[in-house]
Amino acid sequence: MRKKIALIGGGQIGQNLAMLAAMKELGDIVVLDIPDYVNPVKGKALDLMEMAPHGNYDANITGTSDYKDIEGADVVIVTAGKPRVAGMTREDLLATNLQIITDAANGIKKYAPKAFCIIVTNPLDAMVYAFYKLTGFPRHQVVGMAGTLDTARWRAFISMELGVSVTDVAGTVLGGHGPDMVPLPRLTTVGGVPLPEIATKEQIDKLVLRTREAGTEIVKLFGKGSAFFSPAWSAIIMAESYLHDKRRVLACAALCEGEYGIKGLFLGVPALISAKGLEKIFEIKLNDEEKALLQKTVEGVKKTVEETKL
Ligand code: APR
Repeated sequence: MRKKIALIGGGQIGQNLAMLAAMKELGDIVVLDIPDYVNPVKGKALDLMEMAPHGNYDANITGTSDYKDIEGADVVIVTAGKPRVAGMTREDLLATNLQIITDAANGIKKYAPKAFCIIVTNPLDAMVYAFYKLTGFPRHQVVGMAGTLDTARWRAFISMELGVSVTDVAGTVLGGHGPDMVPLPRLTTVGGVPLPEIATKEQIDKLVLRTREAGTEIVKLFGKGSAFFSPAWSAIIMAESYLHDKRRVLACAALCEGEYGIKGLFLGVPALISAKGLEKIFEIKLNDEEKALLQKTVEGVKKTVEETKL
């Protein structure tokens, strides 16, 4: 039997998730949105069914506003919520998106209580925490998509700056999904060569800053709305690693239970995603400077999480 993927939110990221999930034949796809937007998501689903003969995929893709239709989903990806407009921080979305995440948590808990859940809605670190608290799901079943995207941005900018293939750039970004996130130049390599050996300090500082502000750079260009292609791909590889037991090690917002000295907070850390869901968090031995940077991002995440009052 085909797997079932439920996408809560059929806007910019949701529609790209649907296309990618179809093209990768991850399973049948249900896109859920609010009643006022159900016809557009039904239209997007139909459009993707009509793309299938050329896209060469077999998948049933449907749009709905009824949580009953996500029943038994294996994976749920939540993008429901408002995106930023220019001048807004991710935190400015908190009150509105908390209400939306509450609706999603209730619906998913009722109809897809076994699903591996990937949260994308911003402010990410607080929304994934809220979702976890509201559903009561175990830690292995809930992750946030942020570090996967931040790492992709870090790798892309290094490739653009140094004129090297992006596929040879390896590295990770720790911490919250905001301007205090922690790219790790010391542990980044280009074809096995440590980044600090092939880039100047000025170049590295510039790359770190651009990565931290990457989402905002795109919001400024759009004026209204935020990035959607790269967030969609980032969430899809997390879903794929779970569904195909690929055992990828991806930077995910995962619930730390003592790792990195952090308890009870979701934070971007390298994690193994397997058929068990979040199987393991890997701890990196950080130097003092990196530890201080991580501490700063933890304080920021704590503050936003406290605002959820959960
Ligand atoms: N239930 C289901 N869907 C909802 C709900 C709800 N309660 N409330 C809003 N939505 C839907 C909207 O109708 C819209 O179709 O969520 C969709 C969001 O799509 P976009 O506005 O296009 O936003 P998008 O760019 O996809 O970003 C979604 O991800 O990266 C984050 O900051 C971003 O929080 C934002 C989220």
